[in-house]
Order: sequence, then C-alpha cells, then structure tokens
Amino acid sequence: MKFSLILISLLSAVKTYGWGMKGHEAVGFIAMKFLAPEASSFVETSLSGPQYHSSLGLAAPWADEVRRQKGYAWSAPLHFVDAEDQPPTECSVNQKRDCAGNGCILTAIANYTSRVVDTSLSDSDRQEALKFIDHFIGDIGQPLHVEGIERGGNGIHVQCAGKKNNLHSLIFPALRSKMPTLIERIQTGEYQTSASNWIVCEPGSNFHWESVDAQTVLEPSLDDTLNCPLVWAKESNAYDCSFVWTYDSYEDLCSDDNDYYSGAVPIIELQIAKQGYRLAAWLNVLFDGKTNLP
Ligand SMILES: *[C@@H]1O[C@H](CO)[C@@H](O)[C@H](O)[C@H]1NC(C)=O
Repeated sequence: MKFSLILISLLSAVKTYGWGMKGHEAVGFIAMKFLAPEASSFVETSLSGPQYHSSLGLAAPWADEVRRQKGYAWSAPLHFVDAEDQPPTECSVNQKRDCAGNGCILTAIANYTSRVVDTSLSDSDRQEALKFIDHFIGDIGQPLHVEGIERGGNGIHVQCAGKKNNLHSLIFPALRSKMPTLIERIQTGEYQTSASNWIVCEPGSNFHWESVDAQTVLEPSLDDTLNCPLVWAKESNAYDCSFVWTYDSYEDLCSDDNDYYSGAVPIIELQIAKQGYRLAAWLNVLFDGKTNLP
C-alpha cells in the first residue's frame, strides 16, 4: 500500500468538506463544457457578476461555505445520505430507510431541481437552487457522502512517510491540475465511450434521458426522490464496499509498496468527471428538454 491512509483521511475529511473546494470546482467547470444553449444562458445570467463570473465552477463550493453559518445550518444534513448499510460486507441505499426525517441529499436534489425552474420564485431563490444543485450533484458522487460508518471522520490521521497528511493537501491540488485532462478524457479520451452510460439512470433497463421527455425523467420515483440521483447514490455507495473501507489501518500510505492511493486516484477522477457530466445533462434536460450530449 502506498498512500492508503491518505485517501481515507481525504475521504473522511470530505464527509465534512465534500470533495473539497477544488473537487467541487472541478465538477462545475466540467459541467460548463457540456451545457446546452438554454441551460448555458440561464447559468450565465443567474451567476453573473464578480462573485461567480457566470461559472458553475466558481459557484460550486458555496454550499459548503454557508453550511457553517447560522442562517444555513439547516442545510448541513442535505449534503449526504447516511445509508444504514454495513460496508464492507453489505452496501445499500434505501431512501425510505436512510432519508427519513429532515431529508437528505436525495430529497434536496429533488427540491432544488423543481425550484431552479420555478419561474414564480425570485431570481435569488433560483440562483440559490442552482448553487445547491451544482454542489449536491458533486457530493452524491462522493462515496463518503453515501455511507453510514462514522469511522473517525476528521479524526483519522493519515501517516505518510512519517508525517501527518490529509486528502486535501495531497489529492485536491492533483485534481486541479488534472481538471483539463478530465474534460479531454470525456471528449476524446478513455471516458468517451462510457460517458453515454453515465447518463443512463435506471439500473437494469435501457432507460435513457434522450428517449423520454424531461417531465418523465424528473418525475419523483419514490416519495420525493428523483430516479437518477438514487442511481448515482447507489453507485457511490457501492465503492464503499468495493474499495473505500478495504484498507488496513496502521499502514504508511506513502510507502512504495502501498497501492491504496494509486487505487483511489482513478476512482476519484472518474467520479468527479461523471458528476460534472451529469450536472450538465441534468441542467440541459431541465432547460433544453434533452441532455444534448452524446
Ligand atoms: C426546499 O427548499 C426551500 C428553500 O431552501 C426550503 O425552504 C424548503 O423547506 C425545501 N423543501 C423541502 C421539502 O425540502
């Protein structure tokens, strides 16, 4: 194992911090590349001004910034779903079981999806809805936002070559430099052929956004959850069993024979690329009536 604990630390830290600022920005910047005309025009107008420069990338971290403020404390539980599963032996997401009470990321995406297109709301309410969608579609692709183990959270200290490290310091700078390549990989590289499957969102069927009208896609499937976010949550949650919790503690994650870090990086990159692409598809369906993507 090379960097095993770094990832855990990173992933644990992000229970609080999502993908971190850089990761969320990456999701937003990727989405910007794939917006259809109407979606793009709404984003342009809604996020205009010196704060966001009409960019989903710059607006994506907002929800993490405000959750620590008094006036937005209510939004903190909306960043994740505490799946009551038992990774690594059993992973599952069940909306009725895991998203009761004050709601979770599943109901939040449904709520802000209906609000962002609600023309009876004020511009600032619709902008807020857009920023929440921008952020939560990122978070739902993060495995630690879709699991029930509170294994230390930020308390996990990662040893890397004898020093304390965390995922933010190691992974997020790496992510930022990789961001242009993530877009390239979707457009012409290794993700190109699988990208069309990222926006298929009913497991076990050929349900595809292009083949149905926007209303059907956005129709709540169960209670107030939308179909696609539930599929995305299950996909993230599956990584908890297949990878995230399979590390051995007490390893030096930076030792040369440690393969956890090298195993984590492609998963993180894939999830960020996917969620950026999905964010674009989501907004395109809402504003242009179709994903407008290959
Ligand atoms: C939807 O979002 C609005 C604005 O943040 C909030 O006031 C409302 O309680 C939410 N509704 C649900 C069902 O979560």
